Amino acid sequence: MSRKEIGVQRTLVDATKLAHRIDELAREVDSWYPTETPILVGVLNGAALFMTELMQALSIPVTVDFMAVSSYGSSTESSGVVQILKDLSTSIEGQDVLVVEDIVDSGLTLQYLLDVLARRNPRSIRVVALLRKEKPGAIEVPVDLVGFEIPDEFVIGFGLDYAGRYRNLPYIGVLAPEAIMAG
Ligand code: IMP
Repeated sequence: MSRKEIGVQRTLVDATKLAHRIDELAREVDSWYPTETPILVGVLNGAALFMTELMQALSIPVTVDFMAVSSYGSSTESSGVVQILKDLSTSIEGQDVLVVEDIVDSGLTLQYLLDVLARRNPRSIRVVALLRKEKPGAIEVPVDLVGFEIPDEFVIGFGLDYAGRYRNLPYIGVLAPEAIMAG
């Protein structure tokens, strides 16, 4: 076990499964834009790894931009308050937007983001999320494509963090309860 894996309880989705599924997602996304050149909007920091893998797997031309939002601070529970930490560098007016999200948990972040983006008058907005938690009481937010439905546990790796760490694991893992800091 490497030092970066300390605190990982178990692997939930290994690197091979991730690569295979991302390829399938890319084929689906290809089919949505037979003639268009969508703008991929990656949601930092969590979606960074998913974004880089997905965009390489696509066979259509795309442009790319990023937004950074924060909803968690350093805890494992959503604070309910979403903040834009970094906005897009380009206009999306009249464009076909594909939001690339790491994980939909309560749905709050995505709902907020879709709201913000819709007000900028894009031609279309679609969403692809690598993971969605099976969470009772989550907000009904439209996600066009989901990589994996996962149980309601705190996951880390492949871009996802706990207190800023674990993003550089090449797989999705479950955080060991004893690794969660008190408070
Ligand atoms: P939501 O607003 O509750 O849907 O949470 C969305 C954001 O919270 C995601 O974009 C992640 O950055 C973060 N998040 C939610 N669940 C997890 C998790 O299990 N591990 C790491 N980050 C998570």
